[in-house]
Amino acid sequence: MTTKQFDIIVIGAGPGGYIAAIRAAQLGFSVACVDEWKNAKGGPAPGGTCTNVGCIPSKALLQSSEHYEQAGHHFADHGIGLKDLTIDVAKMLDRKDNVVKQNNDGILYLFKKNKITFFHGRASFAAAKDGLYEIKVVGAADEVVCAKDIIIATGSNARALPGAPFDEVNILSNDGALNIGAVPQKLGLIGAGVIGLEMGSVWRRLGAQVTVLEGLPTFLGLVDEQIAKEAKKAFDKQGLKIELGVKVGEIKSGKKGVSVAYANAKGEAQTLEVDKLIISIGRVANTIGLNAEVVGLKLDERGAIVVDDDCKTNLPNVWAVGDVVRGPMLAHKAEEEGVTVAERIAGQHPHVNFNTVPWVIYTSPEIAWVGQTEQQLKAQGRAYKAGTFPFLANGRARALGDTTGMVKMLADAVTDEILGVHIVGPQASELIAECVMAMEFRASSEDIARICHAHPSLSESTKEAALAVEKRTLNF
Ligand code: FAD
Ligand code: NAI
Repeated sequence: MTTKQFDIIVIGAGPGGYIAAIRAAQLGFSVACVDEWKNAKGGPAPGGTCTNVGCIPSKALLQSSEHYEQAGHHFADHGIGLKDLTIDVAKMLDRKDNVVKQNNDGILYLFKKNKITFFHGRASFAAAKDGLYEIKVVGAADEVVCAKDIIIATGSNARALPGAPFDEVNILSNDGALNIGAVPQKLGLIGAGVIGLEMGSVWRRLGAQVTVLEGLPTFLGLVDEQIAKEAKKAFDKQGLKIELGVKVGEIKSGKKGVSVAYANAKGEAQTLEVDKLIISIGRVANTIGLNAEVVGLKLDERGAIVVDDDCKTNLPNVWAVGDVVRGPMLAHKAEEEGVTVAERIAGQHPHVNFNTVPWVIYTSPEIAWVGQTEQQLKAQGRAYKAGTFPFLANGRARALGDTTGMVKMLADAVTDEILGVHIVGPQASELIAECVMAMEFRASSEDIARICHAHPSLSESTKEAALAVEKRTLNF
């Protein structure tokens, strides 16, 4: 074994890790990045959960299934007739795999471009001595590498339900949920969170009868209540069956599918019989195989790596970012932390503003938000003003044929500073960017109201919501 020395070793090449590696290389450090993800042929597949079994493949399937839904149910409104509409699931999955591969290859290219040494294998702490950390890599070739600074970005794994391990045939994690070979007649999901809604939408659009069992009595508790209510109405209309306040009991998997015993919100015993069951009840930080004990790396009671606001762990020069630490499990949050850590190692002083990390749920309608919800402001006792504008009154939304939902803006009652923006409706994922920028610049609702927005555009609804804060909408 040889020992190669770098300034920085990044463990994990998901969005947290590969972005940290690139930023560190830009800053002039010699950087190695180790990632163990394998593609179907056993080769490297950098990009982590996000690229391989998360953000990217789920959005590819959401796009394919939305096209199918549009063709089947909405093209006729435009005078477009179609006969014998079919869905070739194998082709749809192939396309998705191809999109994933383009992203894997893109990251390998970026590593080369930025002169980052990539190791394909599992990294674990071997020792800490003389101000350096030794990292053992087990993979294509076994290596020991060392560096002064280590950035851990090992991500997260799907949380299983006790007694119902993932077999990825009948009981599916996000991995299996993205690879169902034929549209199931009946699909069950446990957990009406982000994955439950996105994956439930994909397979419902393709023709499955979908039932989502959610433990909490409220729908999307993190989301602004008014927005969550509006979204629920739309999902109900689409036929996505969501049962709230259930208590899941025994899950049995057999040749004919899966049966889930549960008590409904009234406490009545029920059984859900489905062909496939997706369990999407959150994710757990992944430190498996890191050998954290060897160096005394501190984990919390949930297994996440303990870090301070700057992503520093309890060990000098060991940092951790992304899903493996506290905070929302989002790719862009991981990326921001990765950049921040690289810059901190270089002696700079950046920080991540958690209040302006946007959230998007890529269903139809899309749900997107940034900042505080109305219920949070009420709980804080903060005086606020609210303005809403429905897409129903937006010309572009009417032309698109998609008028579900609204933009809602919350601003401080005294200073008018924007405190939160919540959107349910078409292209909410894109519309939220303006709101994030406004909040990052500490804009007032009046600032947005005074900005010229192109006509006709969905973004005019954001301007109108800002006008609504002062009760002076122009088009509603
Ligand atoms: P990961 O992406 O999990 O990457 C960690 C990497 O580290 C992996 O490649 C893993 O193989 C590697 N690794 C782990 N341990 C070791 C080791 N010891 N040695 C070597 N390598 C190791 N977020 C969004 O913002 N938008 C979305 O639309 C979105 N959609 C999602 C859809 C699904 C179905 C799922 C499951 C997640 C989605 N997410 C989304 C969340 C997003 O994927 C994660 O927040 C993000 O991937 C976290 O990035 P990360 O770099 O922290 O970890
Ligand atoms: P989640 O936290 O979004 O939702 C889990 C849901 O399961 C919650 O509503 C919870 O109340 C429910 N639940 C938990 N235990 C349960 C039980 N025993 N019985 C019934 N219901 C139960 O987690 P999810 O959907 O697994 O996604 C994990 C994370 O991945 C998300 O929190 C998000 O950070 C990330 N993600 C982000 C996406 C995006 O940004 N568009 C898309 C998909 C995932």
